[in-house]
Amino acid sequence: AVDRGLRPDSIADYIGQSKSKEKLKIFIQAARDRQEALDHVLLYGPPGLGKTTLAAIIANELNVNIHQTSGPAIERPGDLASILTNLQPHDVLFIDEIHRLNKMVEEVLYPAMEDYCLDIIIGKGPSARSVRLDLAPFTLVAATTKAGRLSSPLRDRFGVINRLEFYNQAELQEIVVRSARVLDIEIITQGALEIARRSRGTPRIANRLLKRVRDFAEVKADGIINQEVVDSALKLLEIDKLGLDRIDHKLLKTIMLKFSGGPVGLNTLAAAISEETETIEDVYEPYLLQLGFLERTPRGRVATAKAYQHLGIEKK
Ligand code: ADE
Repeated sequence: AVDRGLRPDSIADYIGQSKSKEKLKIFIQAARDRQEALDHVLLYGPPGLGKTTLAAIIANELNVNIHQTSGPAIERPGDLASILTNLQPHDVLFIDEIHRLNKMVEEVLYPAMEDYCLDIIIGKGPSARSVRLDLAPFTLVAATTKAGRLSSPLRDRFGVINRLEFYNQAELQEIVVRSARVLDIEIITQGALEIARRSRGTPRIANRLLKRVRDFAEVKADGIINQEVVDSALKLLEIDKLGLDRIDHKLLKTIMLKFSGGPVGLNTLAAAISEETETIEDVYEPYLLQLGFLERTPRGRVATAKAYQHLGIEKK
């Protein structure tokens, strides 16, 4: 990824997610001390909070290799079988977007997770027989934005389940300062704080804003990032004081102005703003829900009084 160099490679350098870190540190040390593979780990939560980074850190702390793939990339059972048979003892297999695995592939994963073995069918018709193949003990680290989509047999096979949370302002500020140091960017404390405020609790967004604000600082100012530079740059990018962008605004305004504040169903809303329902659910809604700007009701989405206030729209 573009932010490779920005990713911390040890738990000690990873800022935030203290609950997850505290648990992982213990389970990793215990597995190492017993010279066993770490139990399978499920990481879930909104995009950009560091699931992939954490998977790499787990492998690093275990001193093993990581093999990275994703749910949609594993099309057939044979694809998964070839990945699994290439693992060294205690290696980490990282599967991103695990909720997108197909059923046939998922069936192969069960015995692999449970007993470190693979059941393969050899031949066809009446002469077909099943052969059981032993695998090296390994750790599956899986990530998803939709834990609710996992089948219960799959979910039940993870020994460690961690929900990643949005980062608070102090944590994001620390991440921005750290990233600025790595990228050799000059930034004033107030500048880092302002980027942190507008990053929707999400390190990936903080790092992206930092890079764009640097561009702006170099071209339009003296290269140093202070609060004023952040204000001007983010005005240009149409990112408001809370980090909401044009699509957030469009989404909220559509609920308010076209659907009288809601409730409006997700599909109707998606069609009205020409976005995918998945993008709305995974990318936009989590932070709006966290801010208390949006509510999910059985009959659909509702814009709250707080949202009206923020947008300066009067509720009719
Ligand atoms: N860069 C992106 N996410 C980070 C995190 N959680 N800690 C430190 N640096 C980061």
